[in-house]
Amino acid sequence: MLARVSDLLLRACRRERTERTPVWFMRQAGRYQPEYRELRERHGILEICRTPELAAEVTELPVRQLGVDAAILFSDIVVPLAAMGIDVRIEEGRGPVIDDPVRDRSDVERLRPLEPDVDVPFVLEAVRHLVRILDVPLIGFAGAPFTLASYLVEGGPSRHFARTKALMLGEPATWRSLMERLSAMVLAYLRAQIEAGAAVVQLFDSWVGALSPSDYEEFALPYSRSILEGLAGAGVPRIHFGVETGELLTGMRDAGADVVGVDWRTPLDDAWDRLGPSVAVQGNLDPATLLAPWDAVEGHAADVLRRAGGRPGHVFNLGHGVLPQTPPDTLRRLVELVHAATERESQREAAGR
Ligand code: CP3
Repeated sequence: MLARVSDLLLRACRRERTERTPVWFMRQAGRYQPEYRELRERHGILEICRTPELAAEVTELPVRQLGVDAAILFSDIVVPLAAMGIDVRIEEGRGPVIDDPVRDRSDVERLRPLEPDVDVPFVLEAVRHLVRILDVPLIGFAGAPFTLASYLVEGGPSRHFARTKALMLGEPATWRSLMERLSAMVLAYLRAQIEAGAAVVQLFDSWVGALSPSDYEEFALPYSRSILEGLAGAGVPRIHFGVETGELLTGMRDAGADVVGVDWRTPLDDAWDRLGPSVAVQGNLDPATLLAPWDAVEGHAADVLRRAGGRPGHVFNLGHGVLPQTPPDTLRRLVELVHAATERESQREAAGR
C-alpha cells in the first residue's frame, strides 16, 4: 500500500505558507551514523549505491532517526559517470578518483550517452521501492555539468580547478562538447528518477563557486539551464545548490531553479535579497556548528530562522553536508528546534491575522 506522503517540503518549494518550516540535511545519510559505518565495513560505497535494498535502507534510516521532512536518495554524483564509460572509484576521506581523466577531444568522444533503464536500473529500482514505503517526499539528485566535469578533467578532488579552467578557456569547443554530453546525461538521469517517483530534484553544482560570475555565465550556466529547463514540465520542484556561490546566486536562479540552496558564507537574508521573491531559498546553517555545544547550535539555528524572517519558501538545511564527526543526537534536536520554533511563529501569525 502507498504511504500517505507529507507535502510540507513541496509546499515550501512552491513558496506557499506552511504550518512549520521543512527540514532536511545534505548528507543526512553517512559516516556520522554508527549504523552506516557498520554497513560500510561490509560494503563499498559504490556497492551500496548499486544495490537497491542497501541504498533504500541507508536512505530511510535518517528519516526514521531524525524526523526530517524529506529523504534524499542514497547515491553519489559519480554513479552515472561509470555508465558513460568512466572508470571511477571513491577513496575514503578523499572523494571520487578517475585514473584515466578526460583531457582532450578524443577522451570526450569516448563518453557514451546514458540509457537510464539499461545503465542505472538499480537507482530506479531503489527510487520505486522508496516511494512505496516513505511518508516523506524523496529527493532525487545529480551533479551539475561543471562539478562533474571538474572530477573528469582533474581526475579527482581539486583545490584550484586549474586543469578544468585551462580546458574551458583554452579549448572551448572541447569544453562545450564535454558539457553538452554531461547535460544530456544529467537530464535523462533526472527524468528517469522523476518517472520512478522522485518528488523533488536537486542539482548539485558543488564546486562551481570556483568560477567568476562572467565565466559562470559563459561556461557553466547554459548547461545547467538546459537541464533545469528540460525539467520544467515535469511538475517537480528543482533545487539548485553550490558552495561559495554568493556571487553566482542570481545566475543559478536564472538557470531555472525553483529553490536556490545557499551555503553559510552568505547570510540568508542577504541571499534572499539578492534572489528576490521568485524563488524559494534553502539553507544555511554552517555544518561545523553542529560540533559545538548545544547553546551555539541553538543560537546559530535561531539566527538562520531570524534571517528567514517567517517568509514563505524557506527550506531549512545546512550550508553543506553533515560532517562525519557530527553527533546524531544534535541533528535530531535541531530538527525538533526548527519545527517547534517555526510552528510557534506561524500560530502567532495566524492568531494576529
Ligand atoms: O544523504 C545524502 O546526502 C545522499 C548521499 C550523497 C552522497 N554523495 C553519498 C556519499 C550525496 C547527495 C552525494 C553527492 C555528492 N558526491 C556531491 C554533491 C554534494 C556535496 O557534498 O557537495 C559531491 C561533490 C560528491 C563527490 C563525493 N563523494 C565526495 C566529495 C565524497 C566525500 C569524500 C570523503 O570521504 O569525505 C564522496 C563520497 C561519499 N558520497 C560519501 C557519502 C556518504 C562518504 C562516505 C563513504 O565513503 O562512505
